[in-house]
Amino acid sequence: MEKKWWHDKVAYQIYPKSFCDTNGDGIGDLRGIISKLDYLKQLGVDIIWLSPIYKSPFVDQGYDIADYYAIAEEFGTMEEFDELLAEAKKRNMDLIMDLVINHCSDQHEWFQKALADPYGEYADYFYFRKGKDGNPPSNYRSYFGGSCWEPVPGTDLYYFHMFAKEQPDLNWENPKLRQELYNMVNWWLDKGLAGFRIDAIINIKKNLAFPDFEPDAPDGLAGCWKMVESVDGVGEFLEDLKRNTFRKHDAFTVAEVFNMKEGELPEFIGDDGHFSTIFDFSAHSLSDGEHGWYDAPPIDFKRWRKTVMDSQMEVQKSGFEANIIENHDEPRGVSRFLPDYAKNSDGAKMLGTVSLLLRGIPFIYQGQEIGMQNAVWNSIDEFDDISTKDQYHIAREAGLSDEEALEVCSRMSRDNARTPMQWCGEKNAGFTTGTPWLKVNSNYPEINVEKQEKDAGSVLNYYRRLVAVRKSPEYKNVFTYGEFEPEYADTDTVMGYYRFDGEKRMLVVANFGKDAVELKLRHPVKNIVLSNKNRKRAEFALKLESLEVLVLECM
Ligand code: GLC
Ligand code: CA
Repeated sequence: MEKKWWHDKVAYQIYPKSFCDTNGDGIGDLRGIISKLDYLKQLGVDIIWLSPIYKSPFVDQGYDIADYYAIAEEFGTMEEFDELLAEAKKRNMDLIMDLVINHCSDQHEWFQKALADPYGEYADYFYFRKGKDGNPPSNYRSYFGGSCWEPVPGTDLYYFHMFAKEQPDLNWENPKLRQELYNMVNWWLDKGLAGFRIDAIINIKKNLAFPDFEPDAPDGLAGCWKMVESVDGVGEFLEDLKRNTFRKHDAFTVAEVFNMKEGELPEFIGDDGHFSTIFDFSAHSLSDGEHGWYDAPPIDFKRWRKTVMDSQMEVQKSGFEANIIENHDEPRGVSRFLPDYAKNSDGAKMLGTVSLLLRGIPFIYQGQEIGMQNAVWNSIDEFDDISTKDQYHIAREAGLSDEEALEVCSRMSRDNARTPMQWCGEKNAGFTTGTPWLKVNSNYPEINVEKQEKDAGSVLNYYRRLVAVRKSPEYKNVFTYGEFEPEYADTDTVMGYYRFDGEKRMLVVANFGKDAVELKLRHPVKNIVLSNKNRKRAEFALKLESLEVLVLECM
């Protein structure tokens, strides 16, 4: 395997709107990010991923881009962006941005021109199609609910959108459109960006016949992902994209890919794959409901453990995936993956350790490093997220009461990750002096950065040690390139694995159970590298306390 510059990096995702507000308008901004670069450096971050900061009407929080070359006024100016880039570089950190090119905003100039001339040049930047007998061209349901087809005013045409109707899909079959996108990608890379997180990229390939599928719900529609799963040929687009952009810059790319086909992984993340890496969502998919969030199964420890292990074993044959506990689309990991008795700082440290030391590129999501949790939501009106509103509706339609539907959304909402970053115990958690755009989690007096800075045993200080171990000269190689091997997979409550590079053998072992467990060690211990319970001794046998995690160097 060829070594790449990004293999041993630790990444951190910033959701700019909720990170740090410096002008009191209740919205995080670029100045706020600049002011926290030292904080990120101290955590050990190498690569910062910014969720979209482009000009946008924010129907889907910036994932609806109106101008790929402009910074949203809410966040700041291009000068401030350049300053951020320079300040990050000064600290030896790289910046990557979100690349949202499956769709743009309906406010984008291209779409406005297409609407003005529905048979003209720009209509071909999108999918404009005639309806079928007074109906839309096909029966697809968009990810955010309702038909994927929206009438083009004044015509008998519809345009295609897999997400909100304000996010028209771009026509990748059109070479002119592709060239416009490549120019834009290169423009940012020329500026000094290290790469991109690439949004919903598997969706760019459409079946141009747009065939109907068997309806899968009472609305008579079928999830549009069925078309995505059944169409071939996305790889050609992805190679074209890479050849014309990323490869020339040796960029780091991490793609959001669902619905990959069996056996395709090497094409995506192999030595010369379409991308540097893709996110591993296998554990997150465990709570995919059949019809929506309302029938999402709870996380079962053994199933979760097996899923993570299987994925690691499979992925290491081809390359590296990016490991996450949470992101801006997922509820908080501590609330989701841990049982009630573990939703505390010991649990947060344990979950963080087993995740960050997996093989792959760790991505920490803002607030994860202080153990942020889901918020308490009192009414559906408190949510902002477009997807949460849709899921509430789906749950109500399925017969759940208002209270039950609220409970579902409280558990699964994307807004759980989007509540403002908790910097201190003062008003609004120190995020803003104004009114925050989304409410602050009421637990901020207990969980915040300032408090944890002062506490050597805090989640934050533990995360700092954890990242430092991963990146230390002694252990960097084994945690980057070492093979993954499951251990204790037949126990009821222990998640354990070895990382082994021929020289060093590391054991990561955690007890997710309520009671202590006795474990035998296959290899004698040389050194306790990390412990969330201050353990000083470990030899051949080990009694692991409830919620205890250890990182051991073995013989
Ligand atoms: C991705 C983003 C999500 C967004 C969607 C549409 O899944 O992560 O936040 O809503 O794409 O762009
Ligand atoms: Ca602001």
